[in-house]
Amino acid sequence: MQRQTGRYERIAVGGEDVAAFVPLPLPPRAPELSLDGRLAERLHAAEGALMRLDLAGEMVPSFDWFLYAFVRKEAVISSQIEGTQATLVDLLNFEAEEGSAANADIEEVCNYLNALAYAREELTRANGLPLSMRLLNETHRRLMTGARGANKQPGEIRRSQNWIGGSRPGNAMHVPPPHPLLPELLGDLERYMHKEDGLPPLVRAGLVHAQFETIHPYLDGNGRIGRLLIALLLEHWGLMKSPLLYLSLFFKRHREEYYRRLNAIRLDGDFEGWTNFFLDGVAAIADEATATARDLFSIVAADRARILADDAASITILRLFEELPRHPVVTIASAMRLIGATKPTAIRAVAALERAGVLRETTGRKRDRHFAYQTYVDRLRIGADLVRE
Ligand SMILES: Nc1ncnc2c1ncn2[C@@H]1O[C@H](COP(=O)(O)OP(=O)(O)OP(=O)(O)O)[C@@H](O)[C@H]1O
Ligand SMILES: [Mg+2]
Repeated sequence: MQRQTGRYERIAVGGEDVAAFVPLPLPPRAPELSLDGRLAERLHAAEGALMRLDLAGEMVPSFDWFLYAFVRKEAVISSQIEGTQATLVDLLNFEAEEGSAANADIEEVCNYLNALAYAREELTRANGLPLSMRLLNETHRRLMTGARGANKQPGEIRRSQNWIGGSRPGNAMHVPPPHPLLPELLGDLERYMHKEDGLPPLVRAGLVHAQFETIHPYLDGNGRIGRLLIALLLEHWGLMKSPLLYLSLFFKRHREEYYRRLNAIRLDGDFEGWTNFFLDGVAAIADEATATARDLFSIVAADRARILADDAASITILRLFEELPRHPVVTIASAMRLIGATKPTAIRAVAALERAGVLRETTGRKRDRHFAYQTYVDRLRIGADLVRE
């Protein structure tokens, strides 16, 4: 591939003379991205998988619980790439216990959740921020609050040189552009997000992600903001009615190839290879998400039918059951809050769902017990737990 995707600028960092990469604005030029043959097939497969996922989402009657679960899974996986040790079960346990203190890992996952919710809300709110660097900066501010992020300039474009992979700029895998060039480079990227160029939106989302990572505008959190940006773009550009597609799991599984493909854009001008990889990811993850949606839905439907068939079924038991997909881990206190019941009533409802094989006590303790909707959590967490299997 003879395509040039940027230029190098020599800079001095830490007493070393290194070459920082300054990417050309999108879209790929000379030659333009060719979407024929294999790539066209990939695109077709990815679009089909995405459409099936969208349909699966539509078939779920109480859609919000489904989304709720998916977003939590994504928050955990995306944070795990950075090395956060929290699991999905840790997050659900934490959320079940009001007022419990978050450790730094859980805090990071919760920040990711808040950041994503914030960005989606801004994009849908009447006077909310548009898709822009300002929006991403505000999202970054929320991602980086608290213990680990505070010294990473939350919400701010970096004011110093950074590098990726390697102990110093001189042996780094990638040295992003010098910081004085960031306003211009990010301005170009922002304009690209708002201007049609004839490329399919799915392909454009992949290009934007790659360009964002190449620019690496923040001191830290570039991976997470860049992954979140993909989900925002797909929703905003109308590729999906609801944000159900999260590629973090794919990037985590193929981390080496992910980094290599990003590198190859700079080194070999290989936007086609990157796009191919990205579209593969979309197809694989969309298919998996469709299967998960289907399975979760049948688990809930089957359990509901069983509970309804039981003579002992009461309104309270059913009401608690209907809360479980959104809150798959409960305590007696959280059950009281969820169904607005007294303690004895909540205890009875939890016990009934335990007898029905829906809830299972997970702590083995006598007090402060946690009850999990086990089959549901087990299905949801496939692929999401890095540690403590
Ligand atoms: N060779 C490369 N060229 C461009 N971008 C890269 C390269 N290698 C990795 N990246 C990107 O850099 C991200 C890591 O950057 P950073 O530490 O700022 O983000 P993070 O959100 O804290 O980490 P992570 O993505 O590991 O969770 C990777 O996720 C990837 O998107
Ligand atoms: Mg990092």
